[in-house]
Amino acid sequence: MRYLMVFLLCMSVVCLLSVSAQEVKPPTKLVFQTKMGNVTYDHAAHVKRAKGDCKVCHDKLFQQSDKAPLNYKPAMHKTAEANKTACAACHVTGGMAFPTAGNCAKCHVKAAS
Ligand code: HEC
Ligand code: HEC
Ligand code: HEC
Repeated sequence: MRYLMVFLLCMSVVCLLSVSAQEVKPPTKLVFQTKMGNVTYDHAAHVKRAKGDCKVCHDKLFQQSDKAPLNYKPAMHKTAEANKTACAACHVTGGMAFPTAGNCAKCHVKAAS
């Protein structure tokens, strides 16, 4: 009986977590300000490529808040690429998306002066 209670409790926590990952309204675009030039992150395009599965990124790679740190900039992305964390979970050599090397301008856009 006690085990059943614990089991049910765990199941409801799991349910709550997966519901909360889906019910928030996702942003379309997020802009990250950096000294290298701002990065416009197309959240909608990334969600589409993840086939609508929020759990591909939340909260394993990122918090659902644009105020939370991305943890992507240390050592010019090399730390993240070595650990396959943050954007480098995918944007890494051998990953599903372009790595940083040679591709700075695909993300960092300098303001026209
Ligand atoms: C490919 C990765 C990825 C996927 C998939 C993804 N997100 Fe996000 N999401 C992000 C990133 C990156 C941020 C910004 C996090 C930060 O700034 O620390 C974010 C932020 C958010 C925010 C906060 C926006 C704000 O203005 O504070 C919400 C809400 C959110 N996502 C909802 C969702 C929902 C709902 C889904 C599924 C439909 C989803 N996300 C799928 C990467 C993703
Ligand atoms: C779950 C995997 C995944 C994560 C995490 C991810 N991306 Fe992407 N991203 C992709 C894929 C796949 C593409 C398209 C393939 C390509 O162009 O190599 C892409 C393309 C892009 C593009 C080109 C424009 C577009 O959206 O088509 C930019 C810019 C970009 N990502 C920035 C980021 C940034 C910044 C982060 C972290 C905040 C991030 N990505 C995290 C998978 C990911
Ligand atoms: C996949 C997209 C992407 C690519 C490619 C990329 N960056 Fe970034 N970069 C970002 C994002 C997003 C941030 C903000 C990270 C954070 O806040 O943790 C950032 C932050 C930085 C910062 C910190 C700037 C500051 O204001 O503190 C530097 C330096 C930087 N990038 C250099 C580079 C260089 C050099 C390259 C090319 C070799 C590059 N980046 C390629 C997305 C990218």
